[in-house]
Amino acid sequence: MRQFFKVKENVSLAPLTTLRIGGAARFFVTAVTESQVAAAVEFAAKNNLDLFVLGGGSNVLVSDRGFDGLVLQIGLLGVESFEFLVPSSELRGDSNAELGTRNAKLIKVGAGEDWDEFVENCVKERLSGVECLSGIPGLVGGTPVQNVGAYGQEVSETIVAVRCLDRTNGKIVTLTNADCGFTYRTSIFNSTHRERYIVLAVTFRLVENGPPKIAYPELERAVEMPASLSGVRDAVLRIRGKKSMLIDPRDPNSKSVGSFFKNPIVELEKLKEIQIAFPSVPYFEFGEMVKIPAAWLIEKADFSKGFTLGNAGISENHTLALINRGKSTAAEIIDLKDMIQAGVEARFGITLCPEPVFVGFDA
Ligand code: EPU
Repeated sequence: MRQFFKVKENVSLAPLTTLRIGGAARFFVTAVTESQVAAAVEFAAKNNLDLFVLGGGSNVLVSDRGFDGLVLQIGLLGVESFEFLVPSSELRGDSNAELGTRNAKLIKVGAGEDWDEFVENCVKERLSGVECLSGIPGLVGGTPVQNVGAYGQEVSETIVAVRCLDRTNGKIVTLTNADCGFTYRTSIFNSTHRERYIVLAVTFRLVENGPPKIAYPELERAVEMPASLSGVRDAVLRIRGKKSMLIDPRDPNSKSVGSFFKNPIVELEKLKEIQIAFPSVPYFEFGEMVKIPAAWLIEKADFSKGFTLGNAGISENHTLALINRGKSTAAEIIDLKDMIQAGVEARFGITLCPEPVFVGFDA
């Protein structure tokens, strides 16, 4: 039948993750075509196996005993672009816009393409819309799943379509931006329709010679004015590098999944309660609620940068990154996670929600 791909057995997952932790996958397959993705889904169904879709491994914690099912690694490549004109009504606030029109590009990118290579190419080609998302590890297909965001920009601002395989009926569907239900670090892919869709390709709408987005105070301070797209990319890479949020084999503090917890969104009442003891608590408005940096809460719950628990630890350069200090097991990371959650809960009554996907743990 269509099973022309090779299913491997007992493949170690640790080297395929940025944390470098975790046991083996019982079955493992790399799909480089959409029909191979479909065949992998069929293989899992026929053999009654759980299926886990692996992208760049930059946002997963794999358990020490591994995954007793099929891991599907997405290797779908390819970038196609189409040009069109942006109507003047959409160019408000774009001070460089000439006479009401500007070329835009729709770029369809295979889910297996490296995210940062894509961003680098967009910046080189002077396409604006993803420049603040420079230096984020992982693959393009993972970006809509958790609505990747940083330095004031999120992929939900530029994604127009996500091509997916619907596991419930085996059909390929194209979801629009609205269908994806994007909000902070959330989409239907990691909430209401978890495990239903496998992302095959993502289409972004980028503006040619558009201005860079500068909407984050730390970025504004770091970028040289007048800001260019490449200036913003360089500034973001510098900031991320200083915080060990760029994967660098020479930097032990970068052996992480980036932020381990989401920044909690809380009621104004909670903020006011915290302000009694900490009048200068940082926060960002989020509709009627506020988002408080998890890193700040963790520090005020008495965990500092460089804290260690066995072979796991907190990065010396960013409190939100839990790191593998060399030979950490997944169990050690979980112990540290639990300890931090308990500390923040006890001090503030706020439950920190982990950001990465947990693979091979009991539900
Ligand atoms: N802060 C601390 N200690 C720290 C770091 C930060 O107290 O060690 C406090 C400070 O008040 C600081 C504030 O947290 O002003 C914000 O810090 P930062 O700019 O580093 O951002 P973050 O909230 O820690 C979020 C994202 C990152 C993204 C940055 C920049 C989440 C969970 N994380 O981190 O995304 O790069 O903003 O926009 O939303 C990721 O998701 O993996 C990720 C790296």
